Amino acid sequence: MTTATAPVIASSLSRVDGHLKVTGAATYPLDVLVPGMAHAVLVQSTVTSGRILCIDTKSAEGAPGVLAVITHTNVPRLVQGPMTPIGPSPPPPLQSDVILHFGQHVALVVAETFEQARAAASLVGVTYEPGTAIVSLDDPAAARLPNAWPGDRTYGDVANALASADVRVDATYVTAENTNNPLGLFSTVAEWKDDFLTVHDTNQWPHGVRESLAQTFGIDVNRIRVLTPFVGGAFGAGLRVWPHVPLAVLAARVTKRPVKLTLTRAQMFTSIGHRPNSVQRISIGASRSGRLVAIEHHATSSLGIGDDVPDPVTMGTPESYACPNVLVRNTQVRLHIPPPGWMRAPGEAEGSFALESALDELACELGIDPLELRIRNHAQVDRESGLRWSSDATLECYRQGAARFGWTRRPAQPRSMRDGHAFVGYGMARGALVSFQAPCIARATVYRDGKAFVRSAATDIGTGTYTVMTAVASEALGVAFDRVRFGLGDTEMPNSMAEGGSGLAASLGNAVHAACRSLLKAFVGLVGNDRRSPLYGCRLERVTAGDGGLHVNGDPRRFETYAEILARLQLDELTRDGASTPPVNTKTTAPAGSFAAHFVEAHVDADLGTIRVRRVVSAVDGGRILNEKTARSQIIGGVAGGIGMALLEENVSDHTGRIVNASFGDYLVAVNADVPDIDVVFVGSPDPLTATGAKGIGELALTGMAAAVANAVYHATGRRVRSLPISVEKVLAE
Ligand code: MOS
Repeated sequence: MTTATAPVIASSLSRVDGHLKVTGAATYPLDVLVPGMAHAVLVQSTVTSGRILCIDTKSAEGAPGVLAVITHTNVPRLVQGPMTPIGPSPPPPLQSDVILHFGQHVALVVAETFEQARAAASLVGVTYEPGTAIVSLDDPAAARLPNAWPGDRTYGDVANALASADVRVDATYVTAENTNNPLGLFSTVAEWKDDFLTVHDTNQWPHGVRESLAQTFGIDVNRIRVLTPFVGGAFGAGLRVWPHVPLAVLAARVTKRPVKLTLTRAQMFTSIGHRPNSVQRISIGASRSGRLVAIEHHATSSLGIGDDVPDPVTMGTPESYACPNVLVRNTQVRLHIPPPGWMRAPGEAEGSFALESALDELACELGIDPLELRIRNHAQVDRESGLRWSSDATLECYRQGAARFGWTRRPAQPRSMRDGHAFVGYGMARGALVSFQAPCIARATVYRDGKAFVRSAATDIGTGTYTVMTAVASEALGVAFDRVRFGLGDTEMPNSMAEGGSGLAASLGNAVHAACRSLLKAFVGLVGNDRRSPLYGCRLERVTAGDGGLHVNGDPRRFETYAEILARLQLDELTRDGASTPPVNTKTTAPAGSFAAHFVEAHVDADLGTIRVRRVVSAVDGGRILNEKTARSQIIGGVAGGIGMALLEENVSDHTGRIVNASFGDYLVAVNADVPDIDVVFVGSPDPLTATGAKGIGELALTGMAAAVANAVYHATGRRVRSLPISVEKVLAE
């Protein structure tokens, strides 16, 4: 069986949900209105550690419209949610008087209106016995533990190789705590009806939320429905089931009313995870000719107390370059901070900043062009298996990116280009994201009117899932794009993987493809033995899907539409499921991650130290690009995020661990004025290990981007800033 090559894939179709979104018709969890709905408002700890001595709820309980005030003194025992791909759900809320971080939930006030709930919440009086707050990575009192995943890895003899290397770079790099900051405030609406729970919720994995709530409340998963048709951004924050979600469910149970709980912008800084800060020590040894002989990468990053989430800072390092001796080690330090979570390219964004900065420093030491150094040390094979990658256009990314950028015009000497009052610098870095996929199931239906409905309980966090999966289904079924509808974000649909690790497009694409093939097979089964059909006698291998039906290969007269088949057999529809599993090593190849090369031109004011990113070229190997427009958006978003990470983004806490810049006015993200035109070029070829040929690109652009900016700032000024964000103060300091 083959399917006709439809033009929908790799074209630049606009988002199928775009009209709904721009007209305000898309219902985000925040927009959900349920008749009789009450509103819940959180009260959060104003101290960083210690205990609640006394919590006075009397005034709040007596305030107008108040239905319930829930605290640790009247909450039932809640069970911690199950393991997810990124660790267990955080411990359930309000289970004791112990305070582990600033912004910890200490009470929930439910009232008839949001305004009443907010007013009453301000009346809750909490007396704390403050404890000692451990808030710094170098606090000797902090518990330190090895990172469970990806764990420490050693290849060869790094100590000896470093000792005997011709040239060495040893440096320490620091990355700041960042907050995901999606525009859409995280919101949960919970409604119980006859022991059946319906939850509208902001997340990246509806089935995961359902599992977690089932465990927390001790109810069967089949009595819970989670709906997440639209998400206003998440950037990883929706990968865990945060404590406000079970609290909303609990509030609905206690008040016997539907309840909405929406986090405030300030609460978004403490309640849905963040990128932990890190300190990374890197030692690289190389021969005079620019061959890497050893890389040692120690990462230390922050973790909450009483919570576990892996932080894969060094995950990409062993595979990054061909180098015989590599040692990576990760340590997590428990601090009294809000529990971290995952934020775009978790770990790899921070790890690549350190590694790609160190490579730039090494290039300077060696007097070799930084691009040339990377080309010389390109890793041809997967270190673990020794196999070639299933697809790898890294060198093509370097070549095309450099050509578009004009890299050859770069003088070797830093501080040698000027534009008026600004120093001008060119910097580059390699980006890469390891291959990650998880099992998905999709369901495909064709109805008697010839239209198709394909679905899986994935999410679309702005990535374009609706659009891309519609295209994949359209191609696989041979049904016109505008006659295919893709559904997601509903646990009544088959389970999908979490929209994380940039794995969804490839993995769900495989499942959608499999479901559609299974459906084609079912249609062939219906007509193969039916003398009334022009397709009578044909087998699956001999048909092609297209024009809303099946063609017999090489015989244009033998064609029948799905609608005609269903009508003749008096069937309303035909439905089949398909599943995907992550790709594994073949005899000759290992599943490839995605690759990129970033090139950045930075202008640094000679007196003021202000930095402007003036040009970015990102060359990307994402395998087969399923939709040019949405893929480009992903890369542009990642580059903008990388500029923010490099120059602006930082959670600032006072010495007691309170976040003092928890607003969009004070926590700076890259806005239009900070982001130049970004030239994105896609290179490479379809990856043979996925049905669609796609590889993950959602988080790719974040990797290496901050280093490319830092390297450009160095080239402009001669000043190496090893700590993010690269502020004016750091540029001017000596
Ligand atoms: Mo991404 S942090 O895996 O949503």
